[in-house]
Amino acid sequence: MSYSQYLRSLKNKHFLSVCEDFERLLCSHLKINKAFLITNFEKLKPQISKLEFHLESLSSGVPLAHIIGEVEFYGLSLNINKNCLIPRPETEFLVELICKDFKKQKSLVFADLGSGSGCIGISLVKNLHVQKAFFTEVEMATLNILKENIKLNLVDKTQVELFLNSSDCEEKLIIELQNKNITLDFLVSNPPYIEIGDKAVSASVLQYEPHRALFSSHKGLSHLQTWSKKYKAFIKKGGYMIFETGHQQESPLRLYSEQMGWSCEFIKDQYGVNRFWKINV
Ligand SMILES: C[S@@+](CC[C@H](N)C(=O)[O-])C[C@H]1O[C@@H](n2cnc3c(N)ncnc32)[C@H](O)[C@@H]1O
Repeated sequence: MSYSQYLRSLKNKHFLSVCEDFERLLCSHLKINKAFLITNFEKLKPQISKLEFHLESLSSGVPLAHIIGEVEFYGLSLNINKNCLIPRPETEFLVELICKDFKKQKSLVFADLGSGSGCIGISLVKNLHVQKAFFTEVEMATLNILKENIKLNLVDKTQVELFLNSSDCEEKLIIELQNKNITLDFLVSNPPYIEIGDKAVSASVLQYEPHRALFSSHKGLSHLQTWSKKYKAFIKKGGYMIFETGHQQESPLRLYSEQMGWSCEFIKDQYGVNRFWKINV
């Protein structure tokens, strides 16, 4: 049997997305790339057969990232488990936006609020000239993954200052910034922004991803409004705060910005959805 015949037989029993995830799973488990998988399929078939039980898990909605324990994000390999949000492609786009804006600047100081796996903050430290990065994460279990990913990806850990494991971690960071008279070139966050009870959230996301990473009160706006309000004063003139948001949050956030007297804009993600709320300072 050739590889394409094998794929067709899988496709008869499973959704295309499951077959695609299974290919990635094979490459990850067998530590090979897809070209090697295709050209050496016959030889690899006994090992592949032993991994076929994962097809059931994938079909029942278990995220691939949870099975293989890692994801690729903006060229980094990040450890992932059920305690942190699986980084999304839109968030990669957010990192790219910031990299473009700040690539020429030296000695950057920034904060990433609600760091989760560290996907945003770590990739920015890797790709920009960063002097100091402040990460916050409230969940102890998520924090452990964040620490692993920092260790895996950042050689100079003195660049990263962590404010962690406490429900008032935002306050602690504010006190640190105040005490040391630190201002930020920019602040970035992908906060919890889904309205509690939102019916559009898929069953797989509801079942497998941490609810504290997803949901926020007041129609999903609570974290966005609280964090932007608390941190605005710490952003350097010419800098900005940028938040990932839900696709229906543009008008309430524009209204909020107006009430606060802020100049803001919305930036579309790669799918053409108004996704990023940018407050210029
Ligand atoms: C939507 S997830 C984003 C994670 C990661 N930045 C990403 O983009 O994949 C939001 C994160 O904020 C964390 N979080 C929620 N409330 C928080 C708080 N009060 N302080 C710090 N982190 C918080 C959650 O635990 C979760 O890891």
